[in-house]
Amino acid sequence: MINIVNEFNTYKNSIGNRVALYRSVAKAFQIKSALYPGSHIDIMPSFVIPDVTYIDNFKGTVKFFNEMEAIHRFIDENKEYDGECKLNFIDSDYKKSLEIEPVDLIISQFAGFVGQETKRYLKAGGILLCNDSHGDATLAFSDEDYTFVGVIVSNNKIETKNLDCYFQFARKRPIDIGKVKGTMKGPNYKVKAENYLFRKIKK
Ligand SMILES: C[S@@+](CC[C@H](N)C(=O)[O-])C[C@H]1O[C@@H](n2cnc3c(N)ncnc32)[C@H](O)[C@@H]1O
Repeated sequence: MINIVNEFNTYKNSIGNRVALYRSVAKAFQIKSALYPGSHIDIMPSFVIPDVTYIDNFKGTVKFFNEMEAIHRFIDENKEYDGECKLNFIDSDYKKSLEIEPVDLIISQFAGFVGQETKRYLKAGGILLCNDSHGDATLAFSDEDYTFVGVIVSNNKIETKNLDCYFQFARKRPIDIGKVKGTMKGPNYKVKAENYLFRKIKK
């Protein structure tokens, strides 16, 4: 049996504490439910969001989530909301067709084209929080199902104004979506943010 608290804390130390990021997004958009495809063992969303479904198919992740009772106990001790914590884990490729109720938020962090592959599980009006490490933010920016609504700036504050400077090259040229898909790498824009926010505008 693994010690999930030790394992989680070691992982958190390696990726950094993201609770403030998730808290900031949850508060700003009144998020009650979220989906986190390619989560590995980043269970920090459950500290601030009452209903989160995690999807991953890595062996180590599956082993971690096998300890559901211990995870629930740990979240109960650390959660910032009243009421029950709902936490689900799906051991699957997130590209597969899965039975998931539409959510308020999709989280995409370093795990491929999550915003594209799992868009169908996001409510119309729901929010995609993503970075551009693999180009997921660029794909959302170029996708007419999404509208670009904000970036995360210092101290996890959300900036919703003056967004025109993002997704622009120093020397003006169009985004090459084929290249982003082929390389799975976000382009080198003139101004970048660590995280971007999009709203899904279509059903
Ligand atoms: C680099 S880790 C990032 C983990 C976490 N999002 C974070 O930022 O700390 C990428 C994770 O995505 C998972 N992943 C990548 N592609 C996936 C897919 N198609 N289906 C399910 N999980 C996937 C991997 O198994 C791995 O756990």
